[in-house]
Amino acid sequence: MQPEAVLVIGASGQIGTELTIELRKYYRTVVAADLKMPISEVAEGGPFVRLDVLNRSGLADCIRKYQIQQIYHLAAILSATGEKNPELAWRVNMKGLRNVLDCSVTLGVKKLFWPSTIAVFGPNSPKKHTPQWTIMEPNTIYGISKLAGERWCDYYYQKKNLDVRSLRYPGLISYKAPGGGGTTDYAIDIFFAAKRQRRYTCFLKADTRLPMMYMADAIRATLMLMEAPAERITVRSAYNIAAVDFTPEEVAAAIRDHIPDFVIDFEPDFRQQIAESWPESIDDSIARRDWGWKPLFDLKALTTDMLAHISV
Ligand code: NAD
Ligand code: SER
Repeated sequence: MQPEAVLVIGASGQIGTELTIELRKYYRTVVAADLKMPISEVAEGGPFVRLDVLNRSGLADCIRKYQIQQIYHLAAILSATGEKNPELAWRVNMKGLRNVLDCSVTLGVKKLFWPSTIAVFGPNSPKKHTPQWTIMEPNTIYGISKLAGERWCDYYYQKKNLDVRSLRYPGLISYKAPGGGGTTDYAIDIFFAAKRQRRYTCFLKADTRLPMMYMADAIRATLMLMEAPAERITVRSAYNIAAVDFTPEEVAAAIRDHIPDFVIDFEPDFRQQIAESWPESIDDSIARRDWGWKPLFDLKALTTDMLAHISV
């Protein structure tokens, strides 16, 4: 067990739930923090602090109290929710990050992880195999806040010597906690609906291709990045990472290999426009080169695992 104390902010969310559980296998003290209560496995597995990341003094008290040396700052407002409430998204995604960056510098936190997203790209970015460095003109408030966040992270690394690391996660697929209000949430909901109702109405069109990743791969990528020697990290904004890309009709076909009578229909809503502004696939060659990134789950493997873990 490593002695460093770790803080996970946003520990009750889709990623925070699984990241907290995984980190507790390696670190003696992993403090889970969120506005809302986590699932019982997280609440009972170690300390939980009710924390609003917008409250800078509350955040500083928590870091001091537990002598935190590493922070995973996951609290954010995701793409679909952000379009409904841009003011809240900007405040949580920007002010929350600034609070964490400043407290980390002031209180001597050694390492910070903050996730970015494929939403930093926009309609003018190349759609296929979107490179690490390219045109970035996001047109969602979520993407704008995350692109600004990437620049803040790089700034704090360059000017204040903060060891901050980041990944541009694709849409993440998992079964322990529900999706948090993102455009890629259909790729979670579809598995629950397939198992329980044998039918699903998708809010994206059948042929909308997006980059996706199974949670097990996302957690492994996060830990690989955080454990990599500092001299191997050449990107201090955020790394592109990739695993799979698929459309709703392709995931439906993969589900039908297990549930032959599964039916999908389509009622695209405002999230279609968001999805169409994002890449279809991502070039993650810099992450592969720098710290050996390689995904393990393809569409077939993640479909089998999701359906095996969801109860009827
Ligand atoms: P989520 O919405 O499931 O979880 C976010 C958590 O943050 C929630 O539990 C929420 O209660 C908490 N939170 C919100 N405002 C807060 C505040 N002011 N103070 C404290 N906690 C607050 O989101 P997620 O899917 O787990 O995403 C985590 C991070 O990963 C986010 O930064 C998101 O942008 C990024 N990301 C997620 C995906 C994905 O597909 N899930 C993809 C790319 C990037
Ligand atoms: N999965 C996220 C969303 O759809 C992408 O960051 O908002």
